[in-house]
Amino acid sequence: MARTSRLPGFYKVSVEERRALVGEATGADLTDIERSLEDGGLDATTADKFVENVVGTYALPYGVALNVRVNGHDYVVPMVVEEPSVVAAASNASKMIREGGGFIAETDPPLMVAQVQLTNVRDRREAMECVLAAKEELLALADGAVPGLVERGGGSRDIEVRLVGTEEDAMLVVHVLIDCRDAMGANLVNGAAERIAPRLAEITGGGIGLRILSNLCDRRCVRVHCHVPASALATDDMDGTAVIDGIVNASRFAELDPYRAATHNKGIMNGVDAVVIATGNDWRAVEAGAHAFAARSGRYAPLATWRRHAGDVLVGQVELPMSLGTVGGTLRVHPAARLSLRLLGVTNAQELATIAASVGLASNLAALRALATDGIQRGHMALHARSVAVAAGALGDEVERVATMIVEARDITLDAASKALTVLRTPRTSDRAVSRWELDE
Ligand code: MEV
Repeated sequence: MARTSRLPGFYKVSVEERRALVGEATGADLTDIERSLEDGGLDATTADKFVENVVGTYALPYGVALNVRVNGHDYVVPMVVEEPSVVAAASNASKMIREGGGFIAETDPPLMVAQVQLTNVRDRREAMECVLAAKEELLALADGAVPGLVERGGGSRDIEVRLVGTEEDAMLVVHVLIDCRDAMGANLVNGAAERIAPRLAEITGGGIGLRILSNLCDRRCVRVHCHVPASALATDDMDGTAVIDGIVNASRFAELDPYRAATHNKGIMNGVDAVVIATGNDWRAVEAGAHAFAARSGRYAPLATWRRHAGDVLVGQVELPMSLGTVGGTLRVHPAARLSLRLLGVTNAQELATIAASVGLASNLAALRALATDGIQRGHMALHARSVAVAAGALGDEVERVATMIVEARDITLDAASKALTVLRTPRTSDRAVSRWELDE
């Protein structure tokens, strides 16, 4: 069955109906979806196997981004995030991007870096040469620590030697590049670093320092770009070309100012992290890699930029390191994380990386478009209004209607929502719009 991520009206139906629609769109079994998401996808007994001193679990909203099309494939993308607007924004922006053909993505091979720090090396230059001369022996030694990975087609690929620091206090650091295939790779890489460290100490005559992966996995980057026609970006008050100019201006701001770049990148990570968490991956690792990569020139910079191309097209691109796994780790035990992979139907970690980065680019576009037009608060408030409507007791269709009323009345409070609900439930007014004046009554 061809998967689709276009599900018009999805936000209007109940949670149960949405689950059924997701099942139909992805081919996932409805009972499987329901079971996997029970108790926030994780019970305390299972959680007790993850970490120490468990006393319970902590659930977050699990939504899906729609309209996402990457390299010609549709994906219904699970997102776990507590912030209102993030899922809607990613879905809306993906729809605009879809009008320009969707996201085009490519990835590097899944290479991680194992670092071994060597201390008190006397003749560092000579030691560097000796390490490089022993490359084949060291690669074989590292592979010995990860036989399962080697069997799956991964393993160590190269050795690099670096001098870090000034001439007086320089330390020798050896990198082993390891192809982790579909694993995030932290344990594999750490194991390989520990395995080769004693031999490196012998070769260099130094002491063993740290042996650990680097989260700046800049050999494992993903690059995504997209084209958005001006017509898809227009708002009620602004034409598409003016919106493009506003978005390009916002991009330039981030390129020139690290204070703005941090917030710009936060908007990208809103989308990336939500996918990373939903798929049971280590979002701290992805965050650390992304921000170190953003600062690689010595100046903190935006991970995504936007330009206007001929024919009134907005072109956006994002590049960031992405250490994700589709096997091992949390995925072995977390039912909701496993469900996420089934909904996505991804076959490997590189494909997953293209989706996470695409959702990041969509989140960035949504934020910049909002900032360049109405400002961010209007959209936020519209969504916030729905929660306020629910808190006031609105049910089913009433939620949307009460939310619209309090947004139009510019009074998004529980009090206004309760009044709106009363007005709505009064037969006299239930089938027509209610004015600000009536809410004030
Ligand atoms: C809020 O979570 C994210 C934004 O601040 C991003 C941005 O300013 O680009 C809206």
